[in-house]
Amino acid sequence: MTRASVVMRGQIARGIGIPRELYTSQELYEREVEAIFQTSWLLAGHESQLPAVGDYLTVEVGDESVIVARSRSGLSAYANVCRHRGARLVDPGCGQARILACPYHQWAYEMDGSMRGAPKMPPGFDRTAYPLARVAVETWQGLVFVNLAQDPAPLSSLLAPAEQLILPFDLAEASVAHTITYDVAANWKIVWENAQECYHCSANHPELMRTFDLTSGGIEGVYRSADRRVQVTPLPLRKGAVSLTVDGDAACSLPMGAFGAGREPYTAALHMKPTFAVVCCPDYAVVLRERPLAIDRTEVTMTWLVRAGAEEGRHYDLDNLIKVWDQTNVQDWALCERTQLGVRSRFFQPGPLSGDEPSVAGFHQAYADLLAAAGL
Ligand code: FES
Ligand SMILES: [Fe+2]
Repeated sequence: MTRASVVMRGQIARGIGIPRELYTSQELYEREVEAIFQTSWLLAGHESQLPAVGDYLTVEVGDESVIVARSRSGLSAYANVCRHRGARLVDPGCGQARILACPYHQWAYEMDGSMRGAPKMPPGFDRTAYPLARVAVETWQGLVFVNLAQDPAPLSSLLAPAEQLILPFDLAEASVAHTITYDVAANWKIVWENAQECYHCSANHPELMRTFDLTSGGIEGVYRSADRRVQVTPLPLRKGAVSLTVDGDAACSLPMGAFGAGREPYTAALHMKPTFAVVCCPDYAVVLRERPLAIDRTEVTMTWLVRAGAEEGRHYDLDNLIKVWDQTNVQDWALCERTQLGVRSRFFQPGPLSGDEPSVAGFHQAYADLLAAAGL
């Protein structure tokens, strides 16, 4: 088979999208997940989910599992793999622990990943030689990310150009109101392509379109990184709306960050392809994480953030807070799953992109470059 990056570049040169074989090759799927997701910054969660020493959560990607934990020295990340005979230390999810003791033979680790002790080891056993394998961890605006690569480019430098637009929402001073995990029966690239355009919005997202003003310039960005992986775009609001909510009013009465001090309302979306996106409104934000589960299955987790201290029932009604994006998501996943069925067909041949899809083209460019960098 011709190298996938060469195939993609040929498609891009002709102004068309991803061909069938790049959605359907199991071998390519396994290699691209390893090459792309295991070298990208992956969202682990929000700092408010790890407030106390001993709090931990896991991040799963491909065959890997990473623990992010708070110790006395701050946040650490390490492989969820025991240094004895390799057992998983903790199950996927989150928890609280004083130490991490391997269920198998009880090797024990401190919350910073260093080894605390191991029973019945011979004299001379040097516990300092067996810390858990370190994984890069970085916090940006209260959002915690990990990266499995050896020496990844700092997240802060990748996202610095996004800061100006995102900073006023003060995501660091937010807390989690709700999380929904969706299991989408579509290839991860279909899910990302869908997230890159609003060509489909008018026909498919009646709730979102009540407040999102597509006519005032669409979703074209104010910033795109040279590699097309990072993109920040304002999402214009319709006249009279102050937030992307069912009725255009704020869903949470405690505004985010600078909006509490009277800043003019606006909304903004940041994408870091292909793992993370955040949409910020003056009263809440949604954080989106994408993770491939199989060639035709993608897990998408959406987390709703509100200003720290905002209480359900007092400052916001949860159903009202989550409605627009939950419905938009469900509508999107149906479109993605329908597309997955189509791209498997022998009759599928991608057509040209519309004038409303430049960010899809940007995603294709980034995808081609990632494949090339991985030698694929
Ligand atoms: S595998 Fe963990 S203690 Fe043996
Ligand atoms: Fe959509």
